[in-house]
Amino acid sequence: MMKKLLLLTVVGLYTLTSHGQKKTVDQRVDSVLRLMTLEEKVGQMNQYNGPWAATGPLTNDDKLLDQIREGKVGSMLNATGVARTRELQQLALQSRLKIPLLFGQDVIHGYRTIFPIPLAEAASWDMDAIRQSARIAATEVSAAGVHWTFAPMVDIARDPRWGRVMEGAGEDPYLGSMIATARVKGFQGNGYGKTDAVMACAKHFAAYGAAVGGRDYNSVDMSLRQLHEVYLPPFKSAADAGVATFMNSFNDLNGIPATGNSYLQRDLLKGQWKFKGFVVSDWGSVGEMINHGFSKDNYEAAMQAANAGSDMDMESRSYIQHLVKLVKEGKVKMTVIDDAVRRILKKKFEMGLFDDPFRYCNEEREKAQWNNPAHLSAAREMAKKSIVLLKNNGVLPLAKNSGAPRTIALIGPFARAKSDNLGFWSYDWPDDSARIISVFEGVQRKTGPDTRLLYAKGCNVNDTSTAGFAEAIAAASQADIIILTVGEARDMTGEAKSRSSIRLPGVQEELAKAIIATGKPVVVLISAGRPLVFNHIADNAPAVVYTWWLGTQAGDAIADVLFGDYNPSGKLPMTFPLTEGQIPIYYNYYSTGRPATSDSDRFYRSAYTDLSLYPKYPFGFGKSYTTFEYSDIQLSKKTFSAKEKTDVTVTVKNTGNYDGEEVVQLYIRDITGSVVRPVKELKGFRKIWLAKGESKEVVFTLSVDDLRFYNDKLQYIYEPGDFVVYVGGNSREVKEAGFTLLK
Ligand code: BGC
Repeated sequence: MMKKLLLLTVVGLYTLTSHGQKKTVDQRVDSVLRLMTLEEKVGQMNQYNGPWAATGPLTNDDKLLDQIREGKVGSMLNATGVARTRELQQLALQSRLKIPLLFGQDVIHGYRTIFPIPLAEAASWDMDAIRQSARIAATEVSAAGVHWTFAPMVDIARDPRWGRVMEGAGEDPYLGSMIATARVKGFQGNGYGKTDAVMACAKHFAAYGAAVGGRDYNSVDMSLRQLHEVYLPPFKSAADAGVATFMNSFNDLNGIPATGNSYLQRDLLKGQWKFKGFVVSDWGSVGEMINHGFSKDNYEAAMQAANAGSDMDMESRSYIQHLVKLVKEGKVKMTVIDDAVRRILKKKFEMGLFDDPFRYCNEEREKAQWNNPAHLSAAREMAKKSIVLLKNNGVLPLAKNSGAPRTIALIGPFARAKSDNLGFWSYDWPDDSARIISVFEGVQRKTGPDTRLLYAKGCNVNDTSTAGFAEAIAAASQADIIILTVGEARDMTGEAKSRSSIRLPGVQEELAKAIIATGKPVVVLISAGRPLVFNHIADNAPAVVYTWWLGTQAGDAIADVLFGDYNPSGKLPMTFPLTEGQIPIYYNYYSTGRPATSDSDRFYRSAYTDLSLYPKYPFGFGKSYTTFEYSDIQLSKKTFSAKEKTDVTVTVKNTGNYDGEEVVQLYIRDITGSVVRPVKELKGFRKIWLAKGESKEVVFTLSVDDLRFYNDKLQYIYEPGDFVVYVGGNSREVKEAGFTLLK
């Protein structure tokens, strides 16, 4: 009763004007701000990690719980579950002003139900499905008391050695921007504040994916033009889609750590882009500016980060220890603090937490979302769409009912794997082994009594032992069909998981050689978090399927594809190199004065003498069980003015024997510009379904907005002149036509 009364008083105080009218959110924020001491304001800017040792109960080891009671903590991360979040929220409500805590969590590709890793989902090029995946993740984690996910990661990545490529949408700014929007909308639903939605967080601002050498946390030095052209567009799209928060990044950008970078956070994000949400630092990144050699100590780091526009300090404790003093000494203005706190409080109001701090703490809902079968089937759909068929010499799809006895051998370290299917940034739940579907189980469910399944592991993921080869070869020699599973273990690609070699780890490639050498029909499944190099397999196996890390439903989704219940439609969102020596390699590079045009051109070339020019698989590549034929491109206008548009039309025909989906991709090239332009830039795509024999006309409309770029003064302009437009099923095999933009 007492508690309820107290809550009502607080709610009343924050909701009504002195005349009894309903206050706007801004008025409510101001009414709280006016009551706050400087210490309480700084408390709101402080975020701590959850106070659990490993799996045990709340601990007060470093007096964290006392700090929550004293109003010195504004947000927590890694505190999930209704019981835990309720406990912590109750502590916050013991503070003088009873300002509720915000709970944040890394929900990168699902919470209870794990979806494919984001890079895999990007291969679907299916914005509705990607939005739905984020929607479901939000539904599950919000039911566990969490308000905020640290996703989407929208960093463009052109270097597969960088471990965090798995978290993003790949190398392309256009595709990356579309996906950023889809994910933000999915997480935030019809507007955060509904209890089945969470606030999203666009990270890592900015250019974290361009770390030198693909080594995580490394420096980034690039022209502002490249920053704007390649790395910022997905962030801008996330901001335009209404993302609630941004996270800055560990790297320095052109000499200034992103956390202390006021060009990024103040001038661009909060200035030009008019972003009204708040910026959280990355884990400890405020304090890490000391290691960068940018800040002398945590006192200086707090000053630099706050002044540069980092509103919340994740775990470095620099703000809580030094901001009060910094304000008193005039090093950080009160207006800077007020602006940060206003932004944070506004989100708490918008999430409805001042009205009911426990509105996300509903045990019934938590229970109902814990085992939601609709989520599992959506995860299976998403997983099917994420798979990329790289090669098929007619082995696939496999027949479900063989009609006669047959033997399928499942070989390799991932054939019976469970948690490796989940990939990095996923959670382990006690009943995982029952919930996660292995490839073996998926195949078992598809096949009847005519089919005998054999299993041999062959080798471990990452050691030197070939002791299991003999058993694997014996199983292979008894089989009519072999499904060989190779790839990376779950923790080999992810944060701090950069690799200089992106080959198959351990002796897996040797195992593959031995199995392929049996001459039997071998289907190789490659399970990984990044593009890998696997040339012997690519060149010699009859069929190769890139399955990434597909999540809880991996095995069923893979079996759907293997047995033809789903015709694969995924397309690579990153270029796959031939060897590491080609890295960085990406499709939208600039031309040079001596452009290499073919591998036989050995002298006049901007390429290596000992390597092909071409990647193993180009951006946008992916096969189907059917084939698609593209007509020539028709343009409604071959010359047009800035006020006009042109329609680009192609007819795509399904010329094979299966119904299927195709991702029709449109690229442009600006032939001459006041600054050099990429040889190709993706500007549109459509995913279409065609029954066998069916044709469809696909129409794209181009306007000057599709032809804009950043000039050397960072103006986003278009220039009259000649262009080429390309349309095709990947970035390499395309039809082309020319057009002219008039003055
Ligand atoms: C990562 C972030 C993540 C944060 C909190 C950091 O190490 O870079 O992406 O959100 O930890 O877990």
